[in-house]
Amino acid sequence: MTSHRPTRPPGRFVALVVAALIASACGSSNPPASPSPSAASTASNGSSTSGVYHRDRNLAPEVRAAALLARMTIDEKIGQMTQLESDSVDPAGVSQFLLGSVLSGGDGTPPRNDPDAWYQMVHAYQEAALGTRLGIPILYGIDAVHGNSKVVGATIFPHNVGLGALDDPALVERIGRATAVEMNAVGVRWDFGPVVAVPQDVRWGRTYEGYSEDPTRVERLSSAFITGLQGADLAAPGSAVATAKHFVGDGGTAWGSSTTPGYSLDQGVTEVDDATLRAIHLAPYTAAIDAGVRVVMASFSSTTAGKVHGDHHLLTDVLKGELSFSGFVVSDWGGVDQVDPDYDTAVATSIMAGIDMVMVPYDAARFQAAVRQGLASGGISQERIDDAVLRILRVKFEMGLFEQPMPPAGRDGDVGSAADRELARAAVAGSAVLLKTRPGVLPIRSTDTVLLSGSAADDIGRQSGGWTMTWQGGTGPITPGTTIAGALGARLGPHLMFDSGAGFGPDTRGETGIVVVGEMPYAEGRGDSATLTLPPDDLALVAAMRPRVTRLVVIVLSGRPVMLDGILDEADAVIAAWLPGTEGAGIADVLLGDSPFRGTTPYTWPATPGDAPRTGRAACDGAIFPLGFGLDTSGRLLGPAACATATP
Ligand code: BGC
Ligand code: BGC
Repeated sequence: MTSHRPTRPPGRFVALVVAALIASACGSSNPPASPSPSAASTASNGSSTSGVYHRDRNLAPEVRAAALLARMTIDEKIGQMTQLESDSVDPAGVSQFLLGSVLSGGDGTPPRNDPDAWYQMVHAYQEAALGTRLGIPILYGIDAVHGNSKVVGATIFPHNVGLGALDDPALVERIGRATAVEMNAVGVRWDFGPVVAVPQDVRWGRTYEGYSEDPTRVERLSSAFITGLQGADLAAPGSAVATAKHFVGDGGTAWGSSTTPGYSLDQGVTEVDDATLRAIHLAPYTAAIDAGVRVVMASFSSTTAGKVHGDHHLLTDVLKGELSFSGFVVSDWGGVDQVDPDYDTAVATSIMAGIDMVMVPYDAARFQAAVRQGLASGGISQERIDDAVLRILRVKFEMGLFEQPMPPAGRDGDVGSAADRELARAAVAGSAVLLKTRPGVLPIRSTDTVLLSGSAADDIGRQSGGWTMTWQGGTGPITPGTTIAGALGARLGPHLMFDSGAGFGPDTRGETGIVVVGEMPYAEGRGDSATLTLPPDDLALVAAMRPRVTRLVVIVLSGRPVMLDGILDEADAVIAAWLPGTEGAGIADVLLGDSPFRGTTPYTWPATPGDAPRTGRAACDGAIFPLGFGLDTSGRLLGPAACATATP
């Protein structure tokens, strides 16, 4: 795999020019003198675009950013650092607050959720930004965390837990590119992904957003995703900017340490020493920066030193210093507010710690007043503001936003394209992990009578989990796709009998029975689970199907390893299918033998919920399946053997 750095480190000439421009920006509202004979002319009026060298596409992004910075008023600079959610701002607000960015949060969609409405919405914000004095384009951001997953009709790829099971960097790179293309089609070029968390406790409600508990899997897969998303040139058509999140230690929090009411692990405290923090949680950031990632999002969580959003050592000394990260740091959703009970103090502390752009996300006036107050009191320095804005502008120039503020219109056909759905189907097949089988159970013969049941068997929402259309996800046909029942029906025709509640006639029997069980969708701390249990009705169905069939196959749809009591012992084959997304045909492919089983579990399968925390524990200590466990279709091991405590 190749890795790309969109920005070359500035050469000596560039560095001198930038230094001169920044020096002239500080304490002066006048445009600077022309920095060199090659930077032809100096505009005397910020509203003019001709002859202004920040408009000169032949100059390096670094130089252009510095040139623009030198022309900006303090209000314009604070505006660039401000990001609001689309439900809290209309295009007029973009002009009023001189916003640098707008996002669609977990529940932020245009009133009509289709590709054209998305494009028009982003376009309206962009037009407002272009109409301001300097015409600086906004960056529009979205959580495209498994495909462009808020847009009805988009291809929904498996959540990262499934891609971790597949562990195929080349395929993940293609998924990154497909995601970027589907984003561009709706006018969005900034993704709040990939999650590079290294979850150490599967009770966490964000486990499925992470690729693995193993830092090396996380490194190679997240780097591949970044390479696919950003491409070799950020300004090339079809590319999007990636965000490595959440910096740092989000996956390492201790149960019960959350600072948010109702949450247990999410937004908690990562109570590990510096060496462990670096070895497990920091490692993927080094890889992401090598892969050229241009944005890092701060974590809601804390270390023993306090909230990461206010941690100068981690954000500035480590990330921007030691790791040489030259992109910008965005806060998480209202994450700054958690740094101190006094908002002005919280804002000043976070910005001085190294946050460059603040996901406010509701009240721009309050945030901007706090920054002005910080500047007046000396709590925030002018140098820090200039550095933050320079970082943001540099990324915008690298992206070619000044030349092309919107991707080409009329690309609706890229959303949910047949090619992307094929790619997702292959990823689904590859991500399925066979946990148990007996000889002759798989593949299912297409001549068998197959009885299918389970509340999750015919449900796109259950297949997709959280962060799909809405923040928490939903159930039912929330977006077009192929359910497992739909895919099996297409393949088996009249050989398939389906009833979600197993309400078959008293004498109905089959050679093979399939029950699809699964977690209900959740996101973030709402998914923190002390029990890791499946819905009891699902387990009752497994028991009800057993006497009707010769061979019983159970498919588990979940964002993490869950307790398998009543499943592992009853079933002849058990498949962890994770949260596969819209392309359920990939599950039919492995069941019917068109694709081999090749996935291995990216998380240790704990024996009890209390065994979920894994840092420092041996592979089979308190586990039924170790990290990397999986079987091929014939039942041969693909990795280490099951732990001694595993049932037959
Ligand atoms: C999440 C982030 C997400 C942001 C915007 C936050 O609650 O922690 O991962 O990018 O919301 O939706
Ligand atoms: C937003 C999400 C955000 C979450 C944070 C939700 O209301 O839609 O984007 O991540 O709040 O708590």
